[in-house]
Amino acid sequence: MNQLAQFDAWSAGQNYEQYMGRWSRQIAAKFLPWLAPPENVRWLEIGCGTGAFTAHILGKCAPRSVLAIDASKDFVAYAQAQVIDQRVRFETADAAKLPAPDASVDVVGSALVLNFVPDRVTALAEMKRVLRPGGLLGFYVWDYPGGGMGFIDAFWKAAAEIDPQAAELDEDRRFPFCTRDGLTKLCREAGITATVEPIAIETVFSDF
Ligand SMILES: C[S@@+](CC[C@H](N)C(=O)[O-])C[C@H]1O[C@@H](n2cnc3c(N)ncnc32)[C@H](O)[C@@H]1O
Repeated sequence: MNQLAQFDAWSAGQNYEQYMGRWSRQIAAKFLPWLAPPENVRWLEIGCGTGAFTAHILGKCAPRSVLAIDASKDFVAYAQAQVIDQRVRFETADAAKLPAPDASVDVVGSALVLNFVPDRVTALAEMKRVLRPGGLLGFYVWDYPGGGMGFIDAFWKAAAEIDPQAAELDEDRRFPFCTRDGLTKLCREAGITATVEPIAIETVFSDF
């Protein structure tokens, strides 16, 4: 675990749902129709977390099967308990070493994960390796440098005002590549030709 990754405490399922899962679900509802994957095909999901994106794949994309992996065994256990479907199998694994043979899946999907993976190019190359020729790869991340996730951006800006050292934890500094050009370049380095499009949602809170 690198020094900053210790702050990405990906293990408490219920907390994660309140913090991020509910927003990820809203992006998934827009992202999957945009991706327009074929039905009755083999999916691999990278970084399933609590299963927010997994549930959308199962509910909206009529997959034949979904192998959903995550580096956190706690999240895998949570997702397994929440997403009950005979077509899905959850497994603890690293994005940089996918538990699937070459050219064995039709669609690779990933939601809000790539920026947290230390070796992103290796992870993208792994996704390409397991994808059959002509297969589909789609992922989304927040556009941190553009102030993309408003409440997170506001939190870190306020934290840095109180404690200047907190500025180094601000995600726009940690993930400067989460831009159209940055993501296109990362994909190119992994041998993938990418189309990068913005997707926006409103994060509405009932009270402060
Ligand atoms: C922000 S959460 C996204 C979870 C879920 N996909 C969603 O949309 O709500 C990031 C997830 O990526 C996982 N993750 C981070 N690094 C990973 C890696 N190297 N390999 C696999 N999963 C990883 C974390 O454990 C966490 O579940």
